[in-house]
Amino acid sequence: MKSIPSFFKPSVINLIPYSSARDEYKGTDGSLLDANENAFIYQYNRYPDPYQKELKSMIGKWRDVDPECIFLGNGSDEIIDLFIRSTCSKDVDRILTLDPTYGMYKVSASVNEIPIDLVNLNPDMSVNEKAFLEAIEDAHKLIFICTPNNPTGGLIDETFIEKVLERSTGIVIVDEAYIDFAETSSWVDQLDKYSNLVVMQTFSKAVGAAGIRMGMGFMHREMVAILNKIKPPYNISSPNQEIAIERLKNLEIVEKSIARIKRQRAQLRASLERFENVVHIFPSEANFLLVRFKNALEVFEGLIAKKVIVRDRTTQMNCENCLRITVGSAIENWKLINALTEINSSSK
Ligand SMILES: Cc1ncc(COP(=O)(O)O)c(C=O)c1O
Repeated sequence: MKSIPSFFKPSVINLIPYSSARDEYKGTDGSLLDANENAFIYQYNRYPDPYQKELKSMIGKWRDVDPECIFLGNGSDEIIDLFIRSTCSKDVDRILTLDPTYGMYKVSASVNEIPIDLVNLNPDMSVNEKAFLEAIEDAHKLIFICTPNNPTGGLIDETFIEKVLERSTGIVIVDEAYIDFAETSSWVDQLDKYSNLVVMQTFSKAVGAAGIRMGMGFMHREMVAILNKIKPPYNISSPNQEIAIERLKNLEIVEKSIARIKRQRAQLRASLERFENVVHIFPSEANFLLVRFKNALEVFEGLIAKKVIVRDRTTQMNCENCLRITVGSAIENWKLINALTEINSSSK
């Protein structure tokens, strides 16, 4: 089994990190004259806890994970970037993922000048498992698997992910941004079994707190310690930590909203299926539906004209004529269906 540091660049392992004032003195009382803050202002004048201890302890209880195995990012997007920067060396290492999938893996790889290899999904959006497993090389320091996948909405088969974890000599990041809408268990349960597994989740979807930018990474505690060395010291602001803690104190609201979204998802699917220009709706375990139309661009433009905004995915791999539609509130979904009815009757 590979040691945890060997997944990372030697420069990161050897790095002497910036030591913040709050690293050196961990208390909250006393005369805090160590961080050049303003003692004459009484709200948010202090730097936040760089390791978000209270929040992590609550997340740990919620997700049944040791708080030491949790890393929090300024959105999952920060975690994606930190992993690429800390594991992949330019001109040497590469990344592997599926296509289509969440676009930030590709963007973040490009920003860091790391090539990303893509294995196309089959036309029905299932994984070409043989092609993917054969594509895995030692140079792939990171593999991203998004399940339920964005933009398709489908779950990626567990046995396949197991094979990827076993075959890969790098880190496998399972992105579970939409897991709470799915009828499946989280990969978090497997962290003890696979030292190269990282599970990402977020406050942006089911938790309903996209505005506070709170991404969660669950991983081996040694990985957390390494990411802590390279993250901006105060990457999660105090108000955001507080809002996240409040949200976790009110999880029953989150649970109820998930149940409502799932009900709306079924209703929206049933309503969309009745349209003669809807060719196919892909199975979805997420809070969106990928819908193939006969005339996606006409529908897309028509919806914008009626102030209903959906996501044009027509240029993505295997997504010809496809729009991705988020499951909204009952009123928003009703407006969408009304708008589609009007567009269809005016194009006849
Ligand atoms: C699969 C997936 N992962 C991560 C994210 C981003 O999460 P965050 O808002 O925590 O940066 C998204 C956002 O759409 C997503 O679809």
